[in-house]
Amino acid sequence: MQKRIINTETTDEDQKIENTLRPQSLDAYIGQKAVKDALGVYMKAAKARSESMDHVLLYGPPGLGKTTLAGIIANEMGVNLRITSGPAIEKPGEMAAILNNLQEGDVLFVDEIHRLKRQVEEVLYPALEDYAIDIVIGKGASARSIRLELPHFTMVGATTRPGMLTAPLRDRFGVIQRLEYYTIEELEEIIIRSAEMLSVRIEAEGARMIAMRSRGTPRLANRFLKRVRDFAQVRYDGIITEKVAQETLDLLKVDSLGLDTTDRVFLTRLIEDFGGGPAGIETLAVSIGEDNGTIEDLVEPYLIQAGLLARTSRGRVATQKAYEHLGRLFVNS
Ligand code: ADE
Repeated sequence: MQKRIINTETTDEDQKIENTLRPQSLDAYIGQKAVKDALGVYMKAAKARSESMDHVLLYGPPGLGKTTLAGIIANEMGVNLRITSGPAIEKPGEMAAILNNLQEGDVLFVDEIHRLKRQVEEVLYPALEDYAIDIVIGKGASARSIRLELPHFTMVGATTRPGMLTAPLRDRFGVIQRLEYYTIEELEEIIIRSAEMLSVRIEAEGARMIAMRSRGTPRLANRFLKRVRDFAQVRYDGIITEKVAQETLDLLKVDSLGLDTTDRVFLTRLIEDFGGGPAGIETLAVSIGEDNGTIEDLVEPYLIQAGLLARTSRGRVATQKAYEHLGRLFVNS
């Protein structure tokens, strides 16, 4: 029987295409070798014992494949995938209802799990540990608690901020895996696979140009591929070459290292207003009109990975490479 994907989140057009490009099996999944190897073993072992797999926490920057991996686990285990997110669940009763509707073995994917409300999270503790929820019936002196048994299920939690998870929640995950940025070669492979699925012709140099500017992130690589495809189709003969890829990405203001306007403003302010640092995150955030969380989750991880930014105990520091990339003179102090 075809298993279902139940998604309580809304999906836009970009999201739909992203979904069609997602690999469905571990074999088709490119990159994240350590995570793939580990999950492969755990799934095989659970299947051989006819058990559901242990709960999995996936963390790392956005767009690296957390949702995709949850889908693959459901697919390979032959169960339904139920998708929700921390901020989408407002009341403990909503979490209880989701859990109560699961079928034996199902995968429950909770995105942004660090944003679950405390009372909602508390429903999860017995659910994750004992596959049961405690429901209070009645009020005052006559109130009593009954235990409702749940089917065995696998929760896959995803977060960009593992440090914000409470200890009791973190402790209930048997498998904790960190997703890493992809290499240029891995992204090239993903882009070529996606181009094939979208029936668009692409030259190796075109794939490489997109890969180099995708910040180690498949979601961006696939998004850029679609935009480059549009340009190739309208302005050229439909084939994605290095030239059309570069032209499109220049227009999108994505530079040779994959930095976008926010990244460049962030580094420029750090260099021009704070002498390259060290500068505190709050001060920097205010100076570019973003909140701390956005900078810490979405901007800094890639700048650090790309060797443009260093985090020190005294604050953020722009590296020599950042100066060079922005065409500024670096004076070693
Ligand atoms: N599409 C998006 N991420 C992918 C990955 N890791 N492997 C293959 N195709 C992908």
